[in-house]
Amino acid sequence: MERFSCKTKIISGPGAISALGELKAGRLLLVADPYFAETDLPQRIQKAAGAEAMETFFQVKPDPTAELAAQGTAVVQAFKPDAVVALGGGSAMDCAKAMVYFSGQKVAFAAIPTTSGSGSEVTDFSILTHDGVKHPLVDDALLPDMAILDGDLLATLPKSLIADAGYDILAHALESYVAKNAGVISRALAAEAVEITCRLLPDSFAGDTAVRQDIHLAATMAGVAFSQAGLGLCHAMAHALGGRFHIPHGRLNAILLPAVVEANAAANAHYAQLARAAGIGGAADTVAVRNLKNTLIRLRKELRLPSTLAQAGIPPRQVREATDSLVQAALADPCCATNPVTPDSAMVRKVLQQVTGIG
Ligand SMILES: NC(=O)c1ccc[n+]([C@@H]2O[C@H](COP(=O)([O-])OP(=O)(O)OC[C@H]3O[C@@H](n4cnc5c(N)ncnc54)[C@H](O)[C@@H]3O)[C@@H](O)[C@H]2O)c1
Ligand SMILES: [Fe+2]
Repeated sequence: MERFSCKTKIISGPGAISALGELKAGRLLLVADPYFAETDLPQRIQKAAGAEAMETFFQVKPDPTAELAAQGTAVVQAFKPDAVVALGGGSAMDCAKAMVYFSGQKVAFAAIPTTSGSGSEVTDFSILTHDGVKHPLVDDALLPDMAILDGDLLATLPKSLIADAGYDILAHALESYVAKNAGVISRALAAEAVEITCRLLPDSFAGDTAVRQDIHLAATMAGVAFSQAGLGLCHAMAHALGGRFHIPHGRLNAILLPAVVEANAAANAHYAQLARAAGIGGAADTVAVRNLKNTLIRLRKELRLPSTLAQAGIPPRQVREATDSLVQAALADPCCATNPVTPDSAMVRKVLQQVTGIG
């Protein structure tokens, strides 16, 4: 039996912000990355939504903490908005989703991603950091009502963010394609996301703004795919390492993903199928999986992303000292449940050793 559902209304293209009027929100709470506080976007959002009153919450920081979400929850409870709009990357969207979730109020929720990566605009996830560990909160109630994908908001993205978030798309698509709960529809979306991202991300990185709308859609497609199918060991380990060392999430995925593909050899038939569906090719499964891995490694290099934790600035000694707690956190992460092979401590340690690098 296979199930597929996507609650979120997705509106894409230049000017998509005008769809906020459909929320019919007299009172609007805008939760936004501080980057946007000094721009004209908040006013444009209020106008598009036709809101008489707007409260703002600009305190979002990368990798939001549970404490920050609790602070925001109090704002939702005090202001009692008709709708909440999240504007920013995965951190702003996750923070806003948690604020609404914990407020216990019934509020319309729209997400406007300004990075192309997390897919949070269509997922049932909110990832909060607590005591140095990133905890994915997963619940249908976290699914946004509306996602607005306007490529015009991506012109200011710095190169490093294009690379980090872009690699997050690849990790979502690859992990969801081989995940235990994958189905025909989620795989079609994931394969298309891989094809678009591999083809266009280097151009976007080189400064071509015209391709960014397509990559934005790829991020959302990968988000729908993983919200349905689940993720895997790469994300479980990225959450454990991200909570501990505060390296951007997509950068950690870039370091981990090729090693995780190797560790999940039991899923090779699906990786090969994905390589062919995404136009990477290889008639024999072994060749197709090798081509897929080589494509990941080539892209990582082209996007100037690190290939080890040491290259990302984490001294190997610190990784070795933290190994036990990192392994424990990764194994406790809900993403492990849908990895094609049930991870055990030996598997996680092996991947960690492979990506530690030399100091
Ligand atoms: N909920 C989910 O389904 C899901 C999935 C994957 C990742 N995540 C989470 O998302 C977070 C990562 O999100 P992200 O990669 O989007 O980064 P982010 O939201 O952490 O933002 C990173 C930086 O980019 C800046 N920024 C955002 N948009 C910009 C723009 N248009 N121009 C210039 N600067 C801009 C922000 O100010 C911030 O400093 C992590 O916490 C990760 O755990 C969530
Ligand atoms: Fe991710």
